[in-house]
Amino acid sequence: MAAIPRSADVASPQAALADMSVSARRLNRWIGLVVIGLILAPLLAVAGGAAWLRTIAVAEGRARLAEVLAMTAHHTDTVFQVNGEIARQVALAAEDLGAEALRLDARLHGRLSEMAARHAHVTAIAVTDRDGRVLVHSGAFPAPDEARLVLPDLAGLVAGGWQAVALTPPRHDPVAGVVAFGLAVPRFEAGRVAGAVVVETATDYLQHAYGGLAPVSDFVVGWIDRKGWVLSRRPRLDEPVRLDRATGHLRALAAGATEGQFEETSPIDGVRRLFAWRELAHWPVVVMVGGGRSGLATAHDRVALAFGLALLGAAGAIGALAFALRRAAGRHAALVECVIEADAARRKAEDRLHQAQKLEAVGLLTGGVAHDFNNLLAILMGCTESLQARHPDDRALRETTDMMIVTIERGARLTADLLSFARKQMLFPVACDVSRQIAGSRTLLAKAAGEANQLVFDLAPVPLPVRVDPAHLDACLINLVSNAHDVIERDGRIVVRTRLRVIGPEEAADGLAPGEYAVIDVEDNGRGMPREVAARAFEPFFTTKALGRGTGLGLAMVYGFAQQSGGTALIESQPGRGTRVSVLLPVTKDALPAMPPRLERPPERLAVHVLLVDDDPTVRHVMAESLKSLGATVSEAADAAEARARIAAELPGLLVTDVVMPGDMNGYELAAWARRGGRRLPVLLISGFAGSQLPETLADAEGIAFLPKPIARADLAAAIAGLLKQQGDAPNGAAAQGQPAPA
Ligand SMILES: Nc1ncnc2c1ncn2[C@@H]1O[C@H](COP(=O)(O)OP(=O)(O)OP(=O)(O)O)[C@@H](O)[C@H]1O
Ligand SMILES: [Mg+2]
Repeated sequence: MAAIPRSADVASPQAALADMSVSARRLNRWIGLVVIGLILAPLLAVAGGAAWLRTIAVAEGRARLAEVLAMTAHHTDTVFQVNGEIARQVALAAEDLGAEALRLDARLHGRLSEMAARHAHVTAIAVTDRDGRVLVHSGAFPAPDEARLVLPDLAGLVAGGWQAVALTPPRHDPVAGVVAFGLAVPRFEAGRVAGAVVVETATDYLQHAYGGLAPVSDFVVGWIDRKGWVLSRRPRLDEPVRLDRATGHLRALAAGATEGQFEETSPIDGVRRLFAWRELAHWPVVVMVGGGRSGLATAHDRVALAFGLALLGAAGAIGALAFALRRAAGRHAALVECVIEADAARRKAEDRLHQAQKLEAVGLLTGGVAHDFNNLLAILMGCTESLQARHPDDRALRETTDMMIVTIERGARLTADLLSFARKQMLFPVACDVSRQIAGSRTLLAKAAGEANQLVFDLAPVPLPVRVDPAHLDACLINLVSNAHDVIERDGRIVVRTRLRVIGPEEAADGLAPGEYAVIDVEDNGRGMPREVAARAFEPFFTTKALGRGTGLGLAMVYGFAQQSGGTALIESQPGRGTRVSVLLPVTKDALPAMPPRLERPPERLAVHVLLVDDDPTVRHVMAESLKSLGATVSEAADAAEARARIAAELPGLLVTDVVMPGDMNGYELAAWARRGGRRLPVLLISGFAGSQLPETLADAEGIAFLPKPIARADLAAAIAGLLKQQGDAPNGAAAQGQPAPA
């Protein structure tokens, strides 16, 4: 046989729900962490990687600049070597020729033109006298009279020896028509300096030579002399420019360096660049190359930007996904919590229903038993009393019968409590103020509380009108106060409080309709009840008292009374701290009477004709005997049909009828029938089992009274006397006696 899984192996649904709630919250937290991780980790990686790549890119850019510098330096060296060589050859060719001979030397001019044409960097070659007047020029023959060039200090050049050369700063060459710088060597006549040979290169030469070259962005290349004059540059210059002494390389040169790198914002075009420079070994010229610092890493930056954007997009997508996930997880958690709450509420409601059903079932049983028991007690009471009446002088019999009557009365109280719990007690509700009613019972309650305990009344200052049976309300309070008395060990304090409580639609549990309720709290500082005791305290016969000490009917009566009056009773208790039992009674709109009604003392003898209706012949017989012993004349009927016939025939002065009867009418209906059309036939209803409260039509009517079985003779006499007194007080009281029976 396959094994059946044991329920213990399966977690309870509540535990599973609680588990789900915890895991949903945990999931939510995890999603948050994972998302932060998913976004943060790549972001940090990319940022770190980007920074690293950028350093690499800048280093690569620097290396590239260094390469370009080396290349350019080599090229420049060649250019200056060529220019120097040309200058020296021309100086040799022109040596010892007079100024006028030179001016007319077409051959020399042709040679200069040819030399200049052969070298792209040579813009012009000129031979001058000591003052710079142009004697021969590669660009024109004969040279224009007025053409002059600015010469360097020739004496200084001579001192430098045959190899000595000097650079002339960029100037406008009037013959060539361009701005150019020159390389000058001295020219001799008979051993004396007679002028100079100048080989010129246009300042925009580098623009032509390097125009298409762009190894880095914002690329710049230039030749600069020791004084800071920019001899040639790419990008080209429109005007000759002399750099400030503070420029990076000039400062370094002054400090003795011959090469280096520096970063500076160019005073020429305002672009920030990284520069590499070197002074040529044989020429007083600095070669400089530069590139935009950001440009050095531009490509890399673009890649990084693209990555960043892609990452941002991915982060956004992940964020959106996580948001959706977290929302879903949050909803899931909320749902689970909702289910848990609903489940708890359902279980509470189930518990309450179960409790109510249990009390109902017990009530049904006890109600039935009490009813039959009451009938038996009624017979016993009647018989005992008639026995006593028949032998008034037998003392021994009197003692025994008195004991019997006391016992019967105890039995009657017990059944009354049972009926109360079963909500089958006959109640005579009247409109009364709860606080006033309680104030009227102070002495009774003080007795129940006991002398050792402090009894405090905290009564609402405003009237709390309710419709209850005052006698039962008293009994109820006495039960509660004596319970408190029984659980107090020392320094007892019992508080009886009244207050108003409004129950809204959302609170309307426990079968209570929404509305206003008068609440009576009986609070003590006794030992309190454990949960399991509180859960069962309203059950009849539930007691924690020793055998024979408690019936367990006190709270059952309170509960039944409260329920029957349209309210309920609640227990709040903390073991070791105390207990509060609250009785909730619906507030009524009925006007409060000035004074509660009181019963009159019975007269000596009753001179009235009574029609007695009861289906139980024994009960009827006993009752009839009692009535007769009080002086009444009695005729009997077994059911309502017979009763109606007798009422019509005999015109009785009082109708005494059982409530529960077989046949076409019960006692209430018979009473209503007998009092139709405003007839005021007094009616005494008797029952061991009322079934419910008096019907609306009879509840407050004058001339109607109720007695629960078993009935002591004195109570019977008092009740009838009360009815007859009311009858006599009434303006048409006389007419009631012997009135014609209704049709
Ligand atoms: N104020 C209270 N403090 C603590 N426990 C209480 C209190 N009132 C009632 N109880 C508990 O509830 C049980 C039932 O109370 P209930 O009044 O119905 O019967 P009882 O007091 O035991 O018997 P009886 O009322 O006949 O003396 C009590 O036995 C007691 O355990
Ligand atoms: Mg009690």
